Amino acid sequence: MKSRIDPWEVKEVKNYKKLMKEFGVNSFSQYAKKLKNAPLEIKRELVIGHKDFNKIYDCIEMKKEFAVLTGLMPSGVFHFGHMSVINQVIYYQKLGAKIYLLAADLEANLTRNIPLEEAKKIAIEEYLTNYIALGLSKKNLKFYFQTEGPKNNEKEYMNLSKLASAKTTFNEIKDIYGDINPQKLISALTQVADIIYPQLEGTKTTLTPIGFDQLNHSNLARDIASRMNFSLPCFTFHKLVPGLQGANTKMSSSKPETYIALTDSKKEVEAKIKKYAFSGGQPSLKEHKEKGGNPDVDVSYIYLKTFFEPNDNKLKKIYDDYKSGKLLTSELKEITIEKINSFLKTHQIKREKAKKVINKYLQD
Ligand code: TRP
Repeated sequence: MKSRIDPWEVKEVKNYKKLMKEFGVNSFSQYAKKLKNAPLEIKRELVIGHKDFNKIYDCIEMKKEFAVLTGLMPSGVFHFGHMSVINQVIYYQKLGAKIYLLAADLEANLTRNIPLEEAKKIAIEEYLTNYIALGLSKKNLKFYFQTEGPKNNEKEYMNLSKLASAKTTFNEIKDIYGDINPQKLISALTQVADIIYPQLEGTKTTLTPIGFDQLNHSNLARDIASRMNFSLPCFTFHKLVPGLQGANTKMSSSKPETYIALTDSKKEVEAKIKKYAFSGGQPSLKEHKEKGGNPDVDVSYIYLKTFFEPNDNKLKKIYDDYKSGKLLTSELKEITIEKINSFLKTHQIKREKAKKVINKYLQD
């Protein structure tokens, strides 16, 4: 049976390989190896798929202009699940890409019933503040809201989503999204316009890094772009950062027991990892020592691998020791708690500094 992903409801993704095959997504692994100084999300293969990334790679190699565009739906607290996309954006920004970052306040309102003013507040206080603290620079950056559009080009942006509607049919929409309501349809067309927009400013080669939950939008954006005689936008796809409940689950802003937020306290991190982080260990100490654990499904290990242990040798030792049973679940959790808390301590100081400069990011 053909897989179907509902971008607004997806709770887990079980089989990425199958999805990639069905949706014509190519493997990113050659680029994960070739890209220099890439963030762990890329190096350690959280980003596993792409469409036309070869075009972006050429731009990087030949120092040609390209733009990176992505969006965030401001629906609640900022957690690890949101960190992977911004670390990639910051990486491309350092490589010289023009950055377009938009806050999908319209989508949050239409699909999540969040009042527009609140969506804006969340976008600034949660998302943008953390982005700056994580290293997003003001250089080559345009940050804007879906309800306002990019400065000096508001009309063109607003019209784009409406004009895009002429280039699709209800049958196509139903085929891609299944059962869809008017709010979701408007959100999808707005997202298509978001993705095409940098081309109106003259940058023909664009990359949109997104999670697999956004797969449908990438297909619609590419179909509509070609029918409107734009270049085909390029994409990379990252796996969903696992929620605390297991490797195939998702962090959900409305359920604190599923996520670690970038504003969580030391105590909260410790309690959440100890209580909730799914373990690949054996049920008893004796069994664990005999049979060993399974790091590949262990959420604490996955966080270390994707975000917090940049040293390959150290990571490998943890992997091997856990697998052989030498390293216990409680010990692995201690390592992860320590790493997360040391990251958050510095990050939370940076957040306070970010608050002081945030207005500069909003002005132009
Ligand atoms: N739909 C995205 C989300 O749920 C947000 C978004 C809006 C977006 N426009 C976009 C993402 C354009 C990438 C590109 O998070």
